[in-house]
Amino acid sequence: MSILVTGGTGTLGRAVVDSLAESHDVRVLSRASADGRRSGRTRSGRTQDGLVRCERVRGDLRTGAGPAAAVAGVDVVVHCTRTNGRGDVPVTRNLLDAARRAGGAHVVYVSIAGSDRIPLAYYRAKQECERLVERSGLPWTILRTTQFHDLVAKFFAVQRWLPVVAVPAGVDFQPIDVRDVAERLAELVAGPAAGRVAALGGPQIRTIGDLARTYLRATGSRRPVVPLALPGATLRGYRDGRHLVPEGAAGRRTFDDFLVETAGSGR
Ligand SMILES: NC(=O)c1ccc[n+]([C@@H]2O[C@H](COP(=O)([O-])OP(=O)(O)OC[C@H]3O[C@@H](n4cnc5c(N)ncnc54)[C@H](OP(=O)(O)O)[C@@H]3O)[C@@H](O)[C@H]2O)c1
Repeated sequence: MSILVTGGTGTLGRAVVDSLAESHDVRVLSRASADGRRSGRTRSGRTQDGLVRCERVRGDLRTGAGPAAAVAGVDVVVHCTRTNGRGDVPVTRNLLDAARRAGGAHVVYVSIAGSDRIPLAYYRAKQECERLVERSGLPWTILRTTQFHDLVAKFFAVQRWLPVVAVPAGVDFQPIDVRDVAERLAELVAGPAAGRVAALGGPQIRTIGDLARTYLRATGSRRPVVPLALPGATLRGYRDGRHLVPEGAAGRRTFDDFLVETAGSGR
């Protein structure tokens, strides 16, 4: 199969490319080519040195420059692009227009668990993107997932210069490893368009304070974790657990596993 991964240079996209490139022809759409210039075609697959090679097509989905070449001849598009907020909507619209013109690839879209139940601006944009995919006239599959381990770790990492780590009180998270998401996406790519499939969640539901303490231990910090009682409908949504999928706890790799590997890899 020939597969386009949009956002294939991103956190999830890299894992998706990794999981697909051994058995498929994979193309990555990016605003920059691998060497900063327009790249040539390279064969998909794992090389002897263990690196995944794939074809890189330069394009910007926001301006609409490039997606026509990227979608030409592909059977499936795995759409993993992320912009700032509402930018996801024109990006998705441009991609779908190009895919329709190119003949109708199966579009697999990655969305966020609970994006219809928490009033966050970015989640509203994801909702709009889901609707665009549903109404595209193309064969489609939508997989919602919980927050990635990387995002949760980043939430703590950005506070590294503070004397404490502040977390919202009473909020749980169910973080998932992008490799677990990528494996599920590989299954969906191999099958027929499935519409909305069951949401995927990480293997553990833990308080954000507990995750913060785990992060601090892993990074050798003794700073205290300070829970803050924060007002607002968005925080209420998180406190009510509307972003969790206890019934979809399918990921294998825990946040602790992720931190051990991240430290080991020097990331
Ligand atoms: N992060 C989470 O916890 C989480 C949870 C659930 C679902 N998701 C969803 O998973 C998807 C991937 O998220 P991520 O965190 O992996 O994203 P990310 O690491 O921020 O990567 C964003 C990707 O989008 C590409 N991109 C941005 N603007 C573009 C444009 N105008 N044209 C073409 N490509 C563009 C970037 O490629 P270049 O910079 O190379 O152009 C990059 O590869 C998103 O749909 C997100 O909503 C994320």
